Amino acid sequence: MAAPLPQSLLSDNASINAAGRLSVAGCDVLELAEEFGTPLFVYDEHHVRARCREAVAAFGDGVAYATKAFLCTAMARLAHEEGMHLDVATGGELHVALSAGVPGDRLVMHGNNKSQAELEMALQAGVGRIVVDSFDEIHRIELLVADGWAPPTVLLRVNPGVEAHTHEYLQTGALDSKFGFSLAGGMAEQAIERVSETPAMNLAGLHAHIGSQVFAVDSFAKAIAALAPLVKRVDGDEFSIGGGLGVGYVSGESAPSITEWAEAVRGACAEAGIQSRILAEPGRAIVASAALTLYSVGTIKPIEGVRTYVSVDGGMSDNPRPVLYGSGYEAFLPRATSADREMGVRIVGKHCESGDVIVQEAAVPADLRVGDVLATPVTGAYGHSMGSNYNMVTRPPVVFAKDGTARLVVRRETFDDLTRRDLV
Ligand code: LLP
Repeated sequence: MAAPLPQSLLSDNASINAAGRLSVAGCDVLELAEEFGTPLFVYDEHHVRARCREAVAAFGDGVAYATKAFLCTAMARLAHEEGMHLDVATGGELHVALSAGVPGDRLVMHGNNKSQAELEMALQAGVGRIVVDSFDEIHRIELLVADGWAPPTVLLRVNPGVEAHTHEYLQTGALDSKFGFSLAGGMAEQAIERVSETPAMNLAGLHAHIGSQVFAVDSFAKAIAALAPLVKRVDGDEFSIGGGLGVGYVSGESAPSITEWAEAVRGACAEAGIQSRILAEPGRAIVASAALTLYSVGTIKPIEGVRTYVSVDGGMSDNPRPVLYGSGYEAFLPRATSADREMGVRIVGKHCESGDVIVQEAAVPADLRVGDVLATPVTGAYGHSMGSNYNMVTRPPVVFAKDGTARLVVRRETFDDLTRRDLV
């Protein structure tokens, strides 16, 4: 409980000076808090770039960044510059990727309920792959092709019926799932037949995504083994294993690297006799540990005999993961990064809801005081992207730190933004 923050939870280019102050990519984070205000997301740009390059080296061309983990114009450009394709799952994500200048053929269009308009947008953009998820979608694509659009190249999403070892809400590959065509019961076989018969699309291969925040690479191996007979039979030479590689969020947690994951996936495919081109679409593993969130401590409320509540100036609107999944995080003071954290507290946000917790059981230095900047590491994935305006709290800005310079890539939302869409 009293240990300092494990440095492994900080990004690649984080450093701590003799006084214990934290810098990310040569930028003193307390100065960033001063300059940009709090809450603030700080990404270590070289860290993200390195993970993108690692993914491309490990899987080869075609590996996609799952933009749902974190997307803004700068992020779309960065992933594209580093050679990744981009996985987009809605018209909105598609729009951001295209407006960032990513060419359509570098995009993979996902979604279990793509609307006719989203599919039309994807065809118009000439997306590289559409990952087909239902018979209704096959029908919609046929209608669009009958209307004159060129037949797209597709992957079929197959649900292998394998339960990944992760939070129930993050599992997607069990039989009882809204995603994909299930292997059990022959739905996947039927879908392959249906797609092979229609001239409205070209089948490039199969796709599976078993869940997210998966540490056990044997979960992927199980899915691969289950899917192998179908993958080998299908007329198409691609096989995407989706995303899902976990990352360590708290002390003592460590996950396989992207390279290790790729090796395990390749090994399992080879063992199962799959000769297809192996693709993947990591999101979390690219961005999660690249960022930390800076907050300011506003109140400290000791409740005699119960616990101490430390309130910060953000909360479930910038990180809903603790309330949604019971996810754990660490907290520390960037003014004393290596200090022992001997005081047990609960770190909460400023929303009018008891569930608005950032860290349920946090350990912080005993001299924590009102006005301190407090940081939570490993917040680069599914924080900003799942943020909200609950209680009309404005969403935080995002900076990319690199070589001693911090670049504002998303500005802080303003109060005027909050009424911009209102009509009277
Ligand atoms: N591909 C597909 C089809 C997906 O559905 C997902 C994530 C990914 C790739 C990327 O998965 P990753 O590598 O990031 O695990 N909001 C949750 C995570 C939901 C993931 C949804 N799909 C969280 O905060 O943990």
